[in-house]
Amino acid sequence: MKIAIGADHGGYEYKNNIIDLLKNKGYEVKDFGTYSNESCDYPEFAKKVAESVANGNFDRGILICGTGIGMSIVANKFKGIRAALCSDTFSAKATREHNNSNILCMGARVISFEKAEEITRIWLETEFSQEERHIRRINMIE
Ligand code: RB5
Repeated sequence: MKIAIGADHGGYEYKNNIIDLLKNKGYEVKDFGTYSNESCDYPEFAKKVAESVANGNFDRGILICGTGIGMSIVANKFKGIRAALCSDTFSAKATREHNNSNILCMGARVISFEKAEEITRIWLETEFSQEERHIRRINMIE
């Protein structure tokens, strides 16, 4: 699975740690930045990751900012993107099964790194349910 990842300064440290985690698990990961703690604009990174997933170059995306909210607002502007802001593992599992979410957003100022790691692992490992009602609802979004 090819994963695109991005963050602003608020999510920079978490991003780097999540990249290590993903590489250790054998995922192919591309880091779209930011590449330092310097203050920057989250829409720039959300756009890069969302476009890369929407055009099929990457299977999934992960976006991290202070709250995860700005990233999710931007990512969901792109056709074909279903970005889910998660702060708990129940939602991470449910949004894969029900929404077939293709971008995970998290807030580094909201959840611990351990929680972010757990959410990421569950979100990546959970398959879409393929149930008719969920397919129908996703088609309604599109
Ligand atoms: C940056 O200070 C902060 O606004 C950003 O990381 C994010 O939380 C926006 O939604």
